[in-house]
Amino acid sequence: MEQGSKKVMLKKKIDYGREFVEEHLAIFQCTKCQGTFVEISGNTMICQNNHRFDLSKKGTIHFPDHHMTSDYDKEMLVSRRKMIQKDLYLPIMEEISLLLEQETKKDYIVDMGCGEGSFIDRLVTDFNDQANYLGFDLSKEGVQLGSDFSEDAFFFTGDVTDMPFKNESISTLLNIFSPSHYEEMLRVLKPGGQVIKVIPDAFYLTEMREVFYHDNPEKQSYSNENVYEKFKKDVNLVKEKHLTYKYPVVPEDYEDILKMSPINWGASEKAKAYAKAHPFKELTIDVKILVGKK
Ligand SMILES: C[S@@+](CC[C@H](N)C(=O)[O-])C[C@H]1O[C@@H](n2cnc3c(N)ncnc32)[C@H](O)[C@@H]1O
Ligand SMILES: [Zn+2]
Repeated sequence: MEQGSKKVMLKKKIDYGREFVEEHLAIFQCTKCQGTFVEISGNTMICQNNHRFDLSKKGTIHFPDHHMTSDYDKEMLVSRRKMIQKDLYLPIMEEISLLLEQETKKDYIVDMGCGEGSFIDRLVTDFNDQANYLGFDLSKEGVQLGSDFSEDAFFFTGDVTDMPFKNESISTLLNIFSPSHYEEMLRVLKPGGQVIKVIPDAFYLTEMREVFYHDNPEKQSYSNENVYEKFKKDVNLVKEKHLTYKYPVVPEDYEDILKMSPINWGASEKAKAYAKAHPFKELTIDVKILVGKK
């Protein structure tokens, strides 16, 4: 797919969304009462206690029962999309795809905190299109962008701490650079199901940290120790893989690279100007891929 371009769809987004929830209604549960969904009337999902959730024109649904916002805005998500579509994370996807080989049409793969949805798009398009994919994020803008891939997956606004799924309904949870809530994750996972969590390691985006925090060396380092220890404490870690590589940065991508991560959020205006004026030629991707089984 061309960077930033949209897929040609045969149907309207809302039709893909409605058909998905109609066919897979049994995995969903109401976020207001934890009840079962009993029907879809027009473009509305209705639970046994008559709570109603409407499909948007884009075929997405808003599930959170409480008001929450995400700091990830459209500009950042669009830059992120461009770089993901330009293979910035391809080696990570290749590793993940090996873990999805067993998934079939009966299985559900959920990308928690999916951002703008390109990880799902690339996994479905280039690797395994045999399973049912869902992606959700707290960011409405992310989910709206995700709907460009409505043919691949069902996208909805949701919160990792309160997923609209029945107990033991999901076979794989993807958790890529996004927050976790292990109790909730273990609730929705099937016995034998897996969590695949990608976390930054010490040198992740190190060139970016250096330019944004050249005046603040303390902020140049990063440790994933707490996240890693929490995963091991709460989930049965069955596999882990350390992946490090350098992605070549060409001038035309530099602006998107600088915008695609929250690293710049804490940088001063002066440091942002410094970063623009001192382009780096390669970017380190350094991550751990953790696999937990239920
Ligand atoms: C660093 S981004 C990663 C997005 C995507 N996985 C990717 O790699 O491009 C983290 C994402 O987590 C989402 N997020 C933060 N808190 C969340 C929550 N409680 N529930 C769902 N998503 C959340 C943010 O909106 C953001 O899109
Ligand atoms: Zn309900």
